[in-house]
Amino acid sequence: MARVVVVGQGYVGLPLAMCAVEAGHDVVGFDVDHDRITALRVGSSYVEDVAVDVLREALTTNRFRPSTEPRDCAGFDVAVITVPTPLREGAPDLSYVESAARTLARFLRPDATVIVESTSYPGTTEELVGPMLAEVSGLTPGEDFFLGYSPERIDPGNRVWDLINTPKVVSGVDARSLCAVRSFYDGLVKQTVPVGSTREAELAKLLENTFRHVNIALVNELAVFAADLGINLWAAIDAAATKPFGFMRFTPGPGVGGHCLPIDPSYLSWRVRRSLGQNFRFVELANDVNDHMPDYVVRRLTLALNRRKLPVNGSRILLLGLSYKANTGDARESPASVIIDRLLALGADLRASDPHVVEHHVDKRVTRVELNQEEVAAADAVVLLTDHDAFDYDLVIKAAQFVFDCRRRLTGQQVETL
Ligand SMILES: NC(=O)c1ccc[n+]([C@@H]2O[C@H](COP(=O)([O-])OP(=O)(O)OC[C@H]3O[C@@H](n4cnc5c(N)ncnc54)[C@H](O)[C@@H]3O)[C@@H](O)[C@H]2O)c1
Repeated sequence: MARVVVVGQGYVGLPLAMCAVEAGHDVVGFDVDHDRITALRVGSSYVEDVAVDVLREALTTNRFRPSTEPRDCAGFDVAVITVPTPLREGAPDLSYVESAARTLARFLRPDATVIVESTSYPGTTEELVGPMLAEVSGLTPGEDFFLGYSPERIDPGNRVWDLINTPKVVSGVDARSLCAVRSFYDGLVKQTVPVGSTREAELAKLLENTFRHVNIALVNELAVFAADLGINLWAAIDAAATKPFGFMRFTPGPGVGGHCLPIDPSYLSWRVRRSLGQNFRFVELANDVNDHMPDYVVRRLTLALNRRKLPVNGSRILLLGLSYKANTGDARESPASVIIDRLLALGADLRASDPHVVEHHVDKRVTRVELNQEEVAAADAVVLLTDHDAFDYDLVIKAAQFVFDCRRRLTGQQVETL
C-alpha cells in the first residue's frame, strides 16, 4: 500500500483516486475547490463516470480523504497531477500545473514519485515540473525522487473503455523513474505501455487528440461541400467504412468541444511555433474548420426555416443535447453554446433539453425544458445537437414538424441531416 495524493479531483483525478483506493492505496484527493471537496466528503459525485456507490464505498474504507488542505499532501509516496491545462489568449496556461507542482514540492521526500497526467506540450514534465519540484525541495529528479508523465485517455460516457481496460502509456525522466511510474500503474490498470521519454509520452497524447481533431475537421468540411453537391456524405462514410484497412470512420457534427479537442492540438502548434518558428498548418486548418461548424449549423437551420417561410426571429426552436458529446454532462467548450449565442442574437425563441448537463452549466437565457410531446410539437424546428441515448427519438419523430439532425440519428420525411 502506498500513500497517494491525486492533485485535482475532476473528470480525470476523481476516477483515478477511486481506482487507487480500490487497489488498496491510502489516497488523498486534493483540490482547491471547496465545493467539490465538500461534495466528495458527503459522498456526492459530480463526475458521471464515478458512481455514488463507488465514492461512498471509498469513503467507508477510510482510505480516501478529500481535502483542500495542502498539509494533507505530506508524506506522499506517489503524487499525480490532474489539474486543468486550458488556453489563455491562444497560449498554454500552465498556471494550474505550476501551482500543483509548488504544493507538492513542499512535501516531496527522497524516493517519492511525482507523475503528471494533465495534457500539455512535449517538454512540460522535464522543463517545467521537474525544475519547480527541484528548486523548492532541493532534490534532483531521477536521482533523489522519481518523475514521469502518463497521459490520461479517459473518455467520459464511454461504456466499453475505461481507466482500467484502456492501455496506459507510462514514461519517466530516467529508467528508474519509468520503473516507479510503471509499477504504480501496473497495480491499477490492465496494461501499461512504457515509452522512452516523457516527451514521447506527452507527444503521444497530443498526437491522439490532434489525429481526432484533424479527421473530424476533414469530414466536417466535406459535410459542407457534400450538402452543396447534393451528395449524402453519411452514406459515403458508411460505404468507405466497409474497407477493412486504411480507413477509420469519423462523422460530422456541429463542432468540437470538451476539455481536449478544442485545446490540446493548440498546445502542440504553440510548441512548434515557439520552438521552431513554424506553423502547424494541419492544426490551424482543423481549428478553423471545426470552429466554423456552429455557424454552419445556424446557416442550415436558417435556410430550412426560410423554405417554410419562417424567419429565425420569433421561431420556436428546441435544441436537443447541450454537452459536447453523447451521454455525458460535460458542456465545456460545447458548440451548443455558440449556437445558442447565434440563435438568440437572431431573435429565436429558444428552448433546450439535456438530461445530463446540470442546470448551472446552461445559458440562463435559454428556457430549459423536458423532452415531451408538447414541446416537440410546438417547436418550429427541433435541432439534434448531441444524440444522448436517453432521448425518446420515437417521440421526436412522431411529434416534430421539422428536425435538423446534426448526428444522423433520425430518419423521416421531416428530418434534414447535417
Ligand atoms: N476530461 C477529459 O476527458 C480528459 C481526458 C484526458 C485528459 N484530460 C486532461 O486532464 C487534465 C484535467 O482535466 P479534467 O477534465 O479532469 O479537469 P477538471 O476541471 O474536471 O478538474 C480539474 C480539477 O483540478 C482542480 N485544481 C485546479 N488547480 C488546482 C491546484 N493547484 N491544486 C489542486 N487542485 C487544483 C480544479 O479545482 C478541478 O477540480 C487536463 O489537462 C485535461 O486536458 C482530460
